[in-house]
Amino acid sequence: MAYENIQVSREGPVTTLTVNRPKALNALNSATLRELLQAVREAAESCRALILTGAGEKAFVAGADISELARQTPLQARPLALRGQKLMNTVESCPKPVVAAVNGFAFGGGFELALACHLRTASPNAVMGLPEVTLGIIPGYGGTQRLPRLVGKGRALEMILTAARVDAAEALRIGLIERMVPAGEAQKAARELALTLAAKAPVALRYAKEAVVKGLALPLEDGVRLEGDLSTFLRTTEDRLEGAKAFLEKRKPRWQGR
Ligand code: CAA
Repeated sequence: MAYENIQVSREGPVTTLTVNRPKALNALNSATLRELLQAVREAAESCRALILTGAGEKAFVAGADISELARQTPLQARPLALRGQKLMNTVESCPKPVVAAVNGFAFGGGFELALACHLRTASPNAVMGLPEVTLGIIPGYGGTQRLPRLVGKGRALEMILTAARVDAAEALRIGLIERMVPAGEAQKAARELALTLAAKAPVALRYAKEAVVKGLALPLEDGVRLEGDLSTFLRTTEDRLEGAKAFLEKRKPRWQGR
């Protein structure tokens, strides 16, 4: 499918989705949300790992499109908010691993998109934050929920209530990103990470992610139970037999994804 606001590139097992609205620093308008949702769903079927990034070196995604927000009536706002939430939930529950390459400003809905990804790389010029309270609103695409799960309640409250910006070095220190790489290399680093992920057993990756993401919302005992159930299910896969066989035969496994 052809898109207006995003670019899709496929290289081997990795698909990259690039938000491309340079005139608005890649802000997410309604059409871009719709396109991203469609593209993530398609990529989830066809790739082994997915990268999300923004076009150019200045911005990953500068948030929801404020000019669109400004024009909306409360009745129009609700479907847009639901679409944004749907996108973030779809990214987080994507069966394939999703890596954000944060190459500049990641604010509001843009930061929330990065938070919904499973892993994040960033270049030194990356700046992240939730400036919504400066606009008289609150984060609407999951930021109030995913940020504290990553950095803890106190730090998340500080960032949300003061709208403080966090640079890449600080983001690395507090666990908001996994890798800070030299300027211009966020996508390269994301690709290396995505290739590492793509070489792992796909169903095992999917359930490891599910155990962590869903488990975080559960009491420990229930989370451990979920891990046990998923682990038992993995015992039924052909890939599990292939993994052991490849180890014993001292060769790389050939994953079938089943
Ligand atoms: N929506 C729409 N347009 C945006 C935008 C956004 N989120 N962010 C930037 N732009 C546009 C600017 O209006 C400007 O357009 P013009 O050239 O036509 O004037 C262009 O992109 C370049 O931006 P700046 O001139 O402002 O660039 P800068 O380098 O001076 O500043 C910035 C960069 C600090 C990112 C600044 O643009 C900014 O603060 N942007 C808004 C960030 C923000 O508040 N995001 C949260 C949005 S609300 C939200 O996301 C709610 C939610 O939870 C879903």
